Amino acid sequence: MSFNNYKEKIEEGDTVILYMSNNLYAIDVHPVIKNKKGELVENVYQTTFGALKVRNIIGAEYGSRVELSKGWGHVLQPTPELWSLTLPHRTQIIYTPDISMILMQLDLVPGSVVIEAGTGSGSLTHALVRRVRPSGRVHTFDFHEHRAALAAEEFHAHGIAEFVTAKHRDVCQSGFGEELNGRADAVFLDLPSPWTGVAHAVAALKETGGRFCSFSPCIEQVQRTCLALQQAGFEDLATMEVLQSEVRVSRRTVPVRDLAFLRHKGSSCPVDEKASSTTSYAVGAWPESQPGHTGYLTVATLPPAFRREKSKKPKEVTAQANPTNGDTKATPEPMAVDGNNAEITVK
Ligand SMILES: C[S@@+](CC[C@H](N)C(=O)[O-])C[C@H]1O[C@@H](n2cnc3c(N)ncnc32)[C@H](O)[C@@H]1O
Repeated sequence: MSFNNYKEKIEEGDTVILYMSNNLYAIDVHPVIKNKKGELVENVYQTTFGALKVRNIIGAEYGSRVELSKGWGHVLQPTPELWSLTLPHRTQIIYTPDISMILMQLDLVPGSVVIEAGTGSGSLTHALVRRVRPSGRVHTFDFHEHRAALAAEEFHAHGIAEFVTAKHRDVCQSGFGEELNGRADAVFLDLPSPWTGVAHAVAALKETGGRFCSFSPCIEQVQRTCLALQQAGFEDLATMEVLQSEVRVSRRTVPVRDLAFLRHKGSSCPVDEKASSTTSYAVGAWPESQPGHTGYLTVATLPPAFRREKSKKPKEVTAQANPTNGDTKATPEPMAVDGNNAEITVK
């Protein structure tokens, strides 16, 4: 229950992050657990620095040091950031740099109602909950039944179930449910085909409008999503990528030419040019290549209902003559991608 409020001491049932020598482990605080035969046995967590008897940390203060047979660690209260680094992966997950951008782009504040699909491993869901609680709510969906059930169990075990509804549903086929029509401030999609969820997002967002964001690894997914967003009347479309780059600072010694002689060149008493000296500078260098692509974030605003019709972009088609039989075939116009800010424009 340690995700809900800040706590002084570790209690049975908490999830604790064990921090050891730059490694992080999530431990569920249960003094006994079932072994493979179903028998209850002492819960002993094995690490490279020795074994930790989990019952021994019950009552310890969060942040305190715990001794192991071959070293020590610190027991930390979990945050969404630490959880993203330690959670059991059931799917690919979204990490903190992208999550921060998503929270900001969705304009989420305490009290917001946000819809998420799919739930996956619940990495983003924990951060969404922390942002919208105590008066807001997260509605999260996944079409994988077992995954949806595990996520719901985890939210319960983490003490955040009162802020999140986790449902098993194919949102591309069935939408988010009538009960959410016109209720959401924001919709976030991390699905293979987010464009198929755009119409459902329109139905779920409030009459006053709202924000949309989708996460897609491939630019082709972005292109299709942007077309669907424009056709549904979304505005302010932007696609961005969150990349971290390290500036390497080093000292460089460079030759410096003394140009003082130029001032006196035409005068009656010219000055001789001095030999170049060297000076040492601290310089910053950016990496030449930038690995670390996770995905593109496509964001957009749905305007208030009274002016949505105006901003809808009709499905643009070009008539392409078929030279063999004279038929014409409708095909969508090609799209241009601006490499700098990756904003997508439809020509
Ligand atoms: C990459 S994972 C999401 C990871 C999640 N954002 C996180 O940070 O943990 C994508 C999830 O979407 C689910 N999914 C795919 N298509 C879906 C659909 N049509 N409706 C609901 N869930 C879907 C998958 O089952 C999968 O769990």
